[in-house]
Amino acid sequence: MTKTVLITGASSGIGLEFAKIFAKKGDNVILVARNEEKLVDIKKHLTEKYNNSNCFYAKDLSVPNAAKELFDEITSDGRKVDYLINNAGFGDNHKYLHADFDTHEKMVNLNVIALMELCYYFGRVMCNQGSGKILNVASVAAFSSGPYMSVYYATKAFVLSISEALAEEFGEKGVSVTCLCPGPTESNFGKVSDFGKSNAFRYLGVAKASDVAKAGYKAMMKEKTLHYHGFNVKAMAFLTRLSPRFINTKFAKIMNDTSAQNKHKL
Ligand SMILES: NC(=O)c1ccc[n+]([C@@H]2O[C@H](COP(=O)([O-])OP(=O)(O)OC[C@H]3O[C@@H](n4cnc5c(N)ncnc54)[C@H](OP(=O)(O)O)[C@@H]3O)[C@@H](O)[C@H]2O)c1
Repeated sequence: MTKTVLITGASSGIGLEFAKIFAKKGDNVILVARNEEKLVDIKKHLTEKYNNSNCFYAKDLSVPNAAKELFDEITSDGRKVDYLINNAGFGDNHKYLHADFDTHEKMVNLNVIALMELCYYFGRVMCNQGSGKILNVASVAAFSSGPYMSVYYATKAFVLSISEALAEEFGEKGVSVTCLCPGPTESNFGKVSDFGKSNAFRYLGVAKASDVAKAGYKAMMKEKTLHYHGFNVKAMAFLTRLSPRFINTKFAKIMNDTSAQNKHKL
């Protein structure tokens, strides 16, 4: 039976690759991102290539209440969402005091609050109907605190924590929750987050967005609670559990270093 998937951050990178996977399976895809022009092109491309049904909502999910509005618009259009992929997110590779506070706030609104709202509203509907699958995109950044990307790491630790908890709660109602933790991945993230020249991108190996999405899709369908993508990420997840937190923080500081942060003196 044809299912419907809602994907946030579907205009590029990992989210766009998720959209292609579901479109190829013949599912209905609801795309969400800010850039309307890109969404128009992607909707057209998916429809022509896969002959499935696609629609989009151009929304800035970092604006307070935008995620609740999205839920209201989708449900009042009579759409039922079977799969929810909370993928939209961004980081900022600067010392805490060097970034605008506004950027920190938008990051928390998008990476944390919008994800929480969508899990809450769609999760409630899914739990009431006794079926559905949710996938939340966290990161290798979820495993420790991260100097030079302190807020981003904190948001991803939140995503990991709430996903594991909701997997237990929603699991009782027949709804699975999967948390996907990728490492450095080819997408616009490196540029948007000023992170592309970091040691993490240089030394950890960069995955293809299509491979990350494929692995996430499989984990979601198998109803796995947690999926680390790539050997290096798995190794890091294992090692961070064994080593003291302050070592993990120092390691993250080295990985996040682009040298550029140190050129600015406050
Ligand atoms: N790439 C990596 O190295 C990496 C590693 C670990 C985890 N991740 C996580 O993977 C997820 C996807 O990132 P990506 O790597 O695919 O990066 P990306 O190519 O920059 O994609 C981010 C997506 O989120 C959308 N977005 C950004 N701000 C938004 C907002 N305020 N409201 C609605 N949509 C918004 C973007 O579209 P618009 O600009 O059109 O809004 C875009 O579609 C993120 O959660 C990221 O934290 C990435």
